[in-house]
Amino acid sequence: MPRTRTTEQRLREHVDRLGEEHPPIDLATVDLTVADPAAVRDRFGHVLDYMARVELEVDRNVLELTTMLPDPPEVDRYFYADVWQPQEVRHGEILDALQQELGRPAATPDLTTVSAKLRVLGALAHLAPVQDVVRMLYYLTGQATERSAVLAYNLLHDGLTEMGEHAVAGSVVGQIKRQEPGHHAFYSLSARGLHDQLAPWQRWLVRRLRALSFAPVGVNNPDQLADFGDVMTSLSITDRVESFAEQVSRLERDLLWAHAEGMRVPPYVLRAFADAAGAARARRPESSVPPTGTR
Ligand SMILES: [Fe+2]
Ligand SMILES: [Fe+2]
Repeated sequence: MPRTRTTEQRLREHVDRLGEEHPPIDLATVDLTVADPAAVRDRFGHVLDYMARVELEVDRNVLELTTMLPDPPEVDRYFYADVWQPQEVRHGEILDALQQELGRPAATPDLTTVSAKLRVLGALAHLAPVQDVVRMLYYLTGQATERSAVLAYNLLHDGLTEMGEHAVAGSVVGQIKRQEPGHHAFYSLSARGLHDQLAPWQRWLVRRLRALSFAPVGVNNPDQLADFGDVMTSLSITDRVESFAEQVSRLERDLLWAHAEGMRVPPYVLRAFADAAGAARARRPESSVPPTGTR
């Protein structure tokens, strides 16, 4: 089903503006000077690694996208190929350079594996009504990912500033975090526009598939779930999981669960973040909490 003309136009103008105002960060403007490398490595080293990996994995995300959406609207292709991918890859390169500056190994992103689940979705998406369902899943995933990135970069920026690491707080995290809200706006506008056009059965299917497939950003296996839990702890998200989950999923709740009165956070979103915190706790060697007692 075609988008309304206005949504299409607004999206195109938005992407034009992002491209003009936010070219990939110029490496000459990045200052990797760290006053206390050991302290930053201990507190945030693994956070930098996680974020670098996720940012670098956009190359795989593009493969996933072209598998999932065999026939995307032109403005989607324009966004991910011309604006989003070059910006995100640069974010990953800078974060990876920073962690290596701190003496950590480089990130090991998986750039090629497209899951069987996505291949099935892609095969089904050759049917136009299913493609709209898959597109909706893509926009909702994109908005949750970008919102998580905005929140996480804000917390990382605050943490580094508090440590007196102003060069990297400003020139690395500060510059990166300014580019994320524009990505979020693209997905958010796309999701709202498409949702208006979905039939009740398509909305039902989107809800079912989200509940089955939601995962925190960058989580593709149990190890990465625990890694994400560690990131949550280092950024003090573990202490306020519900509010974090609520901010990440507000749009999703408003679009998909408007009928579920009183729901603050879709239960599968809250469960996914709680599971990440639990997986990290269970993996810590000093933990006295058995894995089954953490859920
Ligand atoms: Fe990014
Ligand atoms: Fe982004």
